[in-house]
Amino acid sequence: MQHQLLSVLIVLTVYAASLGAANVHGICTPQDLKGLTGFKAGIRLDTSGRLEKWVGLKCCEWEGISCDNATGRVTEIRLPGFISTSDDVYQSEIRGWLSPSITLLSSLEVIDLGGLMNLAGTIPPSIGFCLQKLRKVYLYGNQISGMLPESIGKLWRLEELLLYENKLSGSLPPSLGNLRNLNAMIMYSNQFSGTVPDSFTNLTGLVHLDLHNNSFIGAIPEKIGQLHNMKELDLSNNFLGGRIPLSITNLTAISVLYLDTNNLDGEIPSPSRLDQMPSLSFLRLHNNQLTGEISPNFANLISLQRVSLAHNRLKGSIPSSLGALSALTELYLDDNHLSGIIPESMGQLSQLLILSISNNMIRGPLPQEMSSLFNLQIINLSFNQFNFSSIPQWLLRLPSLSQIYMAGCGIQGEIPESLKIMPSPIQELDLSGNHLTGNLPSWLGTLTQLYLLNLSRNSLVADVPESITKLNALGVLDLHSNKLTGNVGQVFKMEQRFPQGPLTYIDLSDNRFTEGIEQIGIGAECGVQSLNLSCNFLSGRLPTTIKMCSSLKSLDLSKNNLGFNLPDALANLSSLEVLKLQRNRFTGSIPEGFLKLSKLRDLNLSNNLLVGQIPAGKPLANFPGSSFSGNTGLCGKPLNPCKR
Ligand SMILES: *[C@@H]1O[C@H](CO)[C@@H](O)[C@H](O)[C@H]1NC(C)=O
Ligand SMILES: *[C@@H]1O[C@H](CO)[C@@H](O)[C@H](O)[C@H]1NC(C)=O
Ligand SMILES: *[C@@H]1O[C@H](CO)[C@@H](O)[C@H](O)[C@H]1NC(C)=O
Ligand SMILES: *[C@@H]1O[C@H](CO)[C@@H](O)[C@H](O)[C@H]1NC(C)=O
Ligand SMILES: *[C@@H]1O[C@H](CO)[C@@H](O)[C@H](O)[C@H]1NC(C)=O
Ligand SMILES: *[C@@H]1O[C@H](CO)[C@@H](O)[C@H](O)[C@H]1NC(C)=O
Ligand SMILES: *[C@@H]1O[C@H](CO)[C@@H](O)[C@H](O)[C@H]1NC(C)=O
Ligand SMILES: *[C@@H]1O[C@H](CO)[C@@H](O)[C@H](O)[C@H]1NC(C)=O
Ligand SMILES: *[C@@H]1O[C@H](CO)[C@@H](O)[C@H](O)[C@H]1NC(C)=O
Ligand SMILES: *[C@@H]1O[C@H](CO)[C@@H](O)[C@H](O)[C@H]1NC(C)=O
Repeated sequence: MQHQLLSVLIVLTVYAASLGAANVHGICTPQDLKGLTGFKAGIRLDTSGRLEKWVGLKCCEWEGISCDNATGRVTEIRLPGFISTSDDVYQSEIRGWLSPSITLLSSLEVIDLGGLMNLAGTIPPSIGFCLQKLRKVYLYGNQISGMLPESIGKLWRLEELLLYENKLSGSLPPSLGNLRNLNAMIMYSNQFSGTVPDSFTNLTGLVHLDLHNNSFIGAIPEKIGQLHNMKELDLSNNFLGGRIPLSITNLTAISVLYLDTNNLDGEIPSPSRLDQMPSLSFLRLHNNQLTGEISPNFANLISLQRVSLAHNRLKGSIPSSLGALSALTELYLDDNHLSGIIPESMGQLSQLLILSISNNMIRGPLPQEMSSLFNLQIINLSFNQFNFSSIPQWLLRLPSLSQIYMAGCGIQGEIPESLKIMPSPIQELDLSGNHLTGNLPSWLGTLTQLYLLNLSRNSLVADVPESITKLNALGVLDLHSNKLTGNVGQVFKMEQRFPQGPLTYIDLSDNRFTEGIEQIGIGAECGVQSLNLSCNFLSGRLPTTIKMCSSLKSLDLSKNNLGFNLPDALANLSSLEVLKLQRNRFTGSIPEGFLKLSKLRDLNLSNNLLVGQIPAGKPLANFPGSSFSGNTGLCGKPLNPCKR
């Protein structure tokens, strides 16, 4: 009761205050009105309908406009592209250009015109002289072009400048060094080019600098370490080169550091003391050309949670000191030249969820201490020099492990029965490129969580067991290059059982399958996008039910003994991009309907028994003669003209 009374009082007081204010009727100054109507005049389309209602003189009451109660001057223009309603967020579009008349709004503190998709034009060159009160500028996600004007350096109150996803170009003006108050500068996905100016190091107030997805070249400024307030620094996805300056270890407030996907070289600077980057939690240095060893001092970054050093040229062994990184949850070291063994201390990383060290030269054995990694969910040991001969038993008993990548690890013998754990936690299993023998065990059907199964490039024999049709979570099945025999139909029966199932990728190529082609697409809708049955001994007729697989983008049936006419139903596969039917015994002519396969970019019908005229027109006309050669009697473009 008291509360209600109080709030009524507050409302009344506020109302009274607003009555006493200068913009008593919501009327703005002639200069502001001119600025806003000029802005509106630059817009051809506003799908949100907000600008339509900007009529009359009471611009302080217009949607998206805020005024100062005391002066009646316009302080904010907020027309963000993303609009949230009570039950939805949608993106509205503005088409037009950013009129320089906004520079008339000389009391403006906030411009939020982000994410409008088609707002073009340039940032007015006079912005820094006219809009000195600006604190926040959001112009990201538009079509703004031109350079970042020099005068922006005069906006000394600027806290946030968000210009990402535009078409800005040129280099950053040296004057940016004057933006002492800037605490968020987010300009990714533009097309800025040129170097990052040294004057950035004047921005000692910077808290958040985000320049990702641009075209910056040159080196990271040597004095970057002076930006003591910086919490988040993202320079990823540029063309930055040279070394990472040693001074970076002086960024004492840094928590997020993303320098990935550049051309950086040299060694990774590691702090020599524990207090240098005490809060650094997220570090991405992947996709560069970093060299040298991972220093034992790297473990001074005690707050590290997620680290990616993948795709560099790092050598040496994994330092044993890394066991001290007690907060570490994700470690990616893939694609380097690391050698040695995994240190026992890795067993201390009790928070570790993901360990990915594929494509290095690391030797076995795995330290048994790793059996205490109770939280480990994903392990990727593929393509090292482990030569395990068998999967360590304790590894399969790690309680959280759901994704196991052990390709090319020298594993021998039959598919180990120790994988059969009920209920099975395994979601992804890659044992490809090993020396597995024997058949596919029928207990595979008990891996009910399995999404990806890659057993390719082994020496597995015999038929695919019926039980495989029970894998209702299976999305990716790769069994290529084995010695499997019999019927491919089991796999299509899976489609029948789970027509809405996730199975999109099937590769059974390079085996010894003989039957089952007539079962493609039988029954319900089939969601497969990629099907490869190439290099088998399949014979028979391609059924018209193939049209049920309307999501197919890639179909490879080459190098089999398939015969009879090409079904017209192939032309119903309107998503088809790749169609490989070469080296079979298909007869008859090419269906006219192939001219409807407008997405086709790779076609091979060579070495069959096809006859008649190649249907004239695109896309067939786009392919070379070798797509059609070696047939009994095909003629017409691109082969020789048909004889009359
Ligand atoms: C200005 O007036 C509005 C109501 O018209 C009120 O919500 C707002 O708090 C006032 N601002 C200031 C700074 O007094
Ligand atoms: C950066 O700061 C230094 C020293 O305070 C000053 O001499 C220099 O002019 C500044 N640079 C820019 C571009 O403002
Ligand atoms: C940023 O760049 C990366 C790689 O260059 C690209 O994959 C990604 O789509 C880009 N993101 C945006 C939002 O443009
Ligand atoms: C880091 O900061 C300290 C103290 O401010 C300074 O003495 C040192 O030279 C800086 N290191 C680098 C590499 O810039
Ligand atoms: C594991 O490593 C392999 C080989 O480098 C790579 O293809 C695969 O994407 C990785 N898988 C995961 C889950 O990291
Ligand atoms: C891998 O291990 C097997 C037996 O476990 C051994 O015969 C083979 O020589 C080893 N290969 C390498 C490259 O060490
Ligand atoms: C299966 O593993 C092999 C490497 O051994 C790889 O080339 C292939 O792309 C993988 N298949 C899938 C579907 O990821
Ligand atoms: C199908 O598999 C064969 C043999 O494994 C391979 O050479 C071919 O590139 C694959 N086809 C497609 C379209 O990927
Ligand atoms: C397949 O294509 C034929 C001929 O264009 C058409 O009549 C038929 O409706 C299509 N069927 C499906 C299932 O799309
Ligand atoms: C089609 O396949 C044949 C082998 O049958 C090959 O020689 C030719 O280069 C292939 N052409 C195209 C365009 O893929």
